[in-house]
Amino acid sequence: MCGIIAYSGEQKASPILFEGLKRLEYRGYDSAGIVTLDQNSELELKKDIGKVRDIHERLNLLDLEGTIGIAHTRWATHGGVTQRNAHPHVSNSAEIAVIHNGIVENYKELKAMLVSEGFHFESETDTEVIPNLIEHWMKKGLSLVEAVARTLQSLEGNFAIVVLHRASGTVIGSKNGSPLVLGIGKANSEIFIASDIPAFLDRTKDVVYLYDGDMVVVENHPKEKKRTWRIFDFRSDLEAQEELPRPVQSVSWDLEHAQLGEFDHFLVKEITEQVDTIQKAAAQDRELIENITREIKNAKGVFLVASGTSFHACLSSSYLFAKLASFHINTVLASEFSAYENFLKPETLVIAVSQSGETIDVLDAVKTAKKKNCQVVSIVNVMGSSLTQVADMTVLLNAGPEVSVLSTKTYTATLAVLTLLAYSLAGRYDEGLRKLKFLWNIVYNLTAQNTRKKIQQLADKIRNEEHIFVLGRGPLYATALEAALKIKEVSYIHAEAFAAGELKHGPIAMIKQNTICIVFVSTDTEKTILSNAMEVKSRGGYLVGIGPKPLESFDFFMKVPESDDLNPILQIIPIQILAYQLAVVLGHDPDKPRNLAKSVTVR
Ligand code: F6R
Repeated sequence: MCGIIAYSGEQKASPILFEGLKRLEYRGYDSAGIVTLDQNSELELKKDIGKVRDIHERLNLLDLEGTIGIAHTRWATHGGVTQRNAHPHVSNSAEIAVIHNGIVENYKELKAMLVSEGFHFESETDTEVIPNLIEHWMKKGLSLVEAVARTLQSLEGNFAIVVLHRASGTVIGSKNGSPLVLGIGKANSEIFIASDIPAFLDRTKDVVYLYDGDMVVVENHPKEKKRTWRIFDFRSDLEAQEELPRPVQSVSWDLEHAQLGEFDHFLVKEITEQVDTIQKAAAQDRELIENITREIKNAKGVFLVASGTSFHACLSSSYLFAKLASFHINTVLASEFSAYENFLKPETLVIAVSQSGETIDVLDAVKTAKKKNCQVVSIVNVMGSSLTQVADMTVLLNAGPEVSVLSTKTYTATLAVLTLLAYSLAGRYDEGLRKLKFLWNIVYNLTAQNTRKKIQQLADKIRNEEHIFVLGRGPLYATALEAALKIKEVSYIHAEAFAAGELKHGPIAMIKQNTICIVFVSTDTEKTILSNAMEVKSRGGYLVGIGPKPLESFDFFMKVPESDDLNPILQIIPIQILAYQLAVVLGHDPDKPRNLAKSVTVR
């Protein structure tokens, strides 16, 4: 949570940082700010509450001068949403500016120490101790690099930070548990440090993935018009700092993935992209999938671990593993995984699934697994993310950057990969792949204009509802959970999912005249779910059916062709569209729902 971008180059920094901030806003959008180093070697700072565009309208962020700067968009943790709490934060003598993503868990002790040394504080944030600690160590005679390293050594908790030093123009970035990546312009003409690649994808595709403990020092040499970068491990002895070799890699993501193009919002763009992304996810290296299949077969106990939408994909697939391969997979919420620690053995396989690869609950679960010497496979969309760095094997979703806070294309991409794995485990890899390839046409129709028009009628009808209930059976129960999550995240209408058979065990008390109830139907669950639907209908409920054929009891019907084991990949799509349309019709920002952020790096 929180987006970070730094620039050191030959161009004016503020427009580049402003564009980068707009692309990072999905990580947090309570407040934002930029600090640059102007021609007089002074720090120029502008920050305020609100979204980046609104702040720019009020403050004109683009008139900040200088070719070096750092910028931040915030998701508040410590301290309310105020101008003072917005980043960047500057040290008492205005020598050091810092942007930060994460939490300094021991900031109270550090602050007390600094106050006793005469430092004063402007904000309520944990972050403000960082620039002042660096200043404190420099006053004690340490060099900038040593002072930053010493400061980082004293921080408890996960973080990614960038430091800007006024006197030298040196920019230092470091990470420990939160994402940070280096972008390298041609011949070092410009260097970026950012939370995520899309922040600078319009300027370079050459990146260096940073690992926990890495501290990258970007030095500016104005006379030679050049800059250099070196990476150290801040945890090592200050006297024995050795440069770490880190390769420059080229990313395959295209800029158009991170741009809106003809679309009004990323959410609808990414829903539409599923025509391609499901195919790309299915086009895996067969050897890799077969290796993982072998690991699954040989393991004593397999866990699928994830959070939120990724968890729903895991839950859905666990039915498929059982059905196709008679294989039991334990599906556990990452935040609850530690309760299973006693079942973990070196022969246990943990498959950790995360779009971002940065979700702290998932990373914690992997830590628990590693402590017990388990093998870890990750299924991830973001290459180079923290999860890929700790896993023994990684399957990439290849869905391109997902900018909207809501996961859509990565949900179906995850389902595609897990479906392939389940078919592979059943010894039917080719059949699985063929079936996934066959989805292309159906997804195209489901995301087409006429389908969207039809769903618009439903959005108009239910926009003022307070409650929506969603029912499914088997893997479509997981679809129901995901549908309810999509609706509530962005429309703020309360939506709740039930395994259809559970309705009569309590939730039916909530059904009254015109209560909206969405029902996912497949050919094999039709009979049973129909009786659950009738229980709703006979109490006056309004039934929205999604499935292969209209049932008499449905008041509204969305046809999704029967696709057997692949139904969950298809049936969620109309609800993704519905959630988007509800947001638009209710005047909410579909890409930045309130209180949410794309990668959840706090516990
Ligand atoms: C919902 C959503 C979240 C994420 C969850 C896990 O639309 O996006 O529920 O699925 O925060 O994120 P990842 O998959 O990045 O670990």
